[in-house]
Amino acid sequence: PSNTFIATVEDMRRVARRRVPRMFYDYADSGSWTESTYRANEADLQKIRFRQRVARNMENRNLATTMVGQSAAMPVALAPTGLTGMQHADGEILAAQAAEAFGVPFTLSTMSICSIEDVAAHTSAPFWFQLYVMRDRDFIERLIDRAKAAKCSALVLTLDLQILGQRHKDLRNGLSAPPRMTLGNLLNLATKPAWCWNMLRTQRRTFRNIAGHAKGVTDLSSLGAWTAEQFDPTLNWDDVEWIKKRWGGKLILKGILDPEDARHAVDTGADALIVSNHGGRQLDGAVSSVSMLPQVVDAVGKDIEVWMDGGIRSGQDILRAVALGARGVMIGRPFLYGLGAGGREGVAKVLEILAKELDITMALCGYRDIHQIDRDVLVPGTY
Ligand code: FNR
Repeated sequence: PSNTFIATVEDMRRVARRRVPRMFYDYADSGSWTESTYRANEADLQKIRFRQRVARNMENRNLATTMVGQSAAMPVALAPTGLTGMQHADGEILAAQAAEAFGVPFTLSTMSICSIEDVAAHTSAPFWFQLYVMRDRDFIERLIDRAKAAKCSALVLTLDLQILGQRHKDLRNGLSAPPRMTLGNLLNLATKPAWCWNMLRTQRRTFRNIAGHAKGVTDLSSLGAWTAEQFDPTLNWDDVEWIKKRWGGKLILKGILDPEDARHAVDTGADALIVSNHGGRQLDGAVSSVSMLPQVVDAVGKDIEVWMDGGIRSGQDILRAVALGARGVMIGRPFLYGLGAGGREGVAKVLEILAKELDITMALCGYRDIHQIDRDVLVPGTY
């Protein structure tokens, strides 16, 4: 993004809002119903305070860590996000490339525009694949096989979307990909020439992920109808075990917000769980992710890696989560804003901003290695 000074994720958000068609910007920057959980994710992180320690050697710092045994340049992974390819043409590919260059994992959503094969063809580092459990088990098996063939290095199984939470903005905008050519949409698209031009150049890749792999899906309208009906309301812990066996590799369970569910997650033998409320997009009125993190960490001990997402907007937020016992965090909207604002460079810039903030904040707390960070870094009573 040229001629705009960008120092924070919030700066990036403002540029994305200008550049991305309203329907898709709103799709990213929204939560379900009153959006109270969406707001709580950020607000509760902000309340947590650091202890300022001084006169401690802060030279030569380390942010590098591992996630499910795989190395990461900092404790951050890109969260799976649907329709990423509508924030920017080839969005999934560009975000995966930025993540690879930085050295953090990228997660490809089941609901992606670019296919597993397209992302694999344009990256060299292995990425993660996120799976939604669909009623059509053949489709699931084919997805798992495709992810294996593409050498995906972990499967992220999302458990908090058996039924879709209602998002008013999407309904109001008539969210569809590609956008329906109503007068309102045409007027809005006319103000986003760069977005349109990029989309036209990459049209051939669009919608290959699900289209053609699902039974009865032949065109875009049948694709929309198919996906809406496919989320499986009967999903339960037995299905998780079946998927674990069928996949056979590293498994990460996403969408755990309750300590009792966290124990179930441990029992499945999964490698990690992600404390998450889907970025406030599902159960509105649920508590923030960060407020449940300490309880979940205490409930599972060292039996499983605990990650969290929801509301991370700065390196300070990453440090807060790590201090409360998260191995690391996933970021959703921050990277989508980078993508919408500036494609691959925008995502790279967001990762740089977060890493720099994390590095300096860790130093100002008096620590040099991310592995030393624990609750001692925080002021008691603020979390
Ligand atoms: C999501 N999320 C999500 N999760 C998932 O498992 N599969 C998906 O397809 C999607 N799609 C999706 C789209 C968009 C636009 C957003 C913003 C989020 C949830 C995502 O993985 C993550 O949990 C949250 O985004 C984390 O919160 P923040 O970082 O966005 O505040």
